[in-house]
Amino acid sequence: MRTVYVNGVYTSEDQAQISIFDRGFLFGDAVYEVTAVMNGMLVDFEAHMDRLERSMAELDMVRGFERPALLTIHKTLIKNNNLQEGLVYLQVTRGAADRDFDFSEMDAAPGLVLFTQAKALDANPLAARGQKIILADDLRWGRSDIKTVQLLYASLMKTRAKRQGADDVWLCRDGKITEGSSNNAYIVTHRNEIITRELSTDILHGITRASVLRLAELHQLKIIERAFSVEELRNAKEAFSTSASGFVNPVVNVDGAVIGDGQPGHIASALRSSYVAASEAAAV
Ligand code: PDD
Repeated sequence: MRTVYVNGVYTSEDQAQISIFDRGFLFGDAVYEVTAVMNGMLVDFEAHMDRLERSMAELDMVRGFERPALLTIHKTLIKNNNLQEGLVYLQVTRGAADRDFDFSEMDAAPGLVLFTQAKALDANPLAARGQKIILADDLRWGRSDIKTVQLLYASLMKTRAKRQGADDVWLCRDGKITEGSSNNAYIVTHRNEIITRELSTDILHGITRASVLRLAELHQLKIIERAFSVEELRNAKEAFSTSASGFVNPVVNVDGAVIGDGQPGHIASALRSSYVAASEAAAV
């Protein structure tokens, strides 16, 4: 049984309680972060907390949390749950109040929930075999840059992918890929250029994306930040995704057609190895 953190209290997961009036539950009025843990240490903690603050500010969630306190909670859960490798999930909700669309008069304290999830991150089978993906229209709201818990569409499409024997879904708007269900999306051209959509309100500004692009630059790879089309994806030499929970995962098949030679690409595999090494070295 895990120890989890709920609104100031460490408790067993089967004892944890939140209000039925919590706006995260009623309105999806909550933001979250998922931080990787390697060797019992947090990967890119500061960057995740920077993004959390940004998500909260964008939604006018004014009452934040002290960062040292958040680090302590993360660390305590890792220790109490003896987590070596996996994830820490953090969710901030606007708080609990009687149901009302208007929150302008609301004076409740924000809600804070954290829990750990054990997961093999380094030895992810997708890294070795490559992912099969399907494509679907991106029907999410227009602020995908804010990491809200409104994940229903991504969840429906991921389920559709699994039911079709694929691993994930990449979303498309106007014939161009935006991002994956819970990851950022990239192609590598036959000229070894890495193309990934530029940062905007269309995609989440991935923490792993930033680290991987930094590493790619160190490896003297050419990076082009622009939207790429479904056709470019089909003709790419390689494709891959990045996220805190998947690191760098090659894509080998799109809607039943192979990408490149149908094997995980060299650039994706090299970036994955450098990312794992750099993350382990910098974890806190
Ligand atoms: N998802 N795009 C979307 C829509 C995401 O949900 C995520 C992360 C990313 C990658 O961001 P990062 O590199 O900071 O993890 C991109 C997390 C892992 C999740 O929802 O579980």
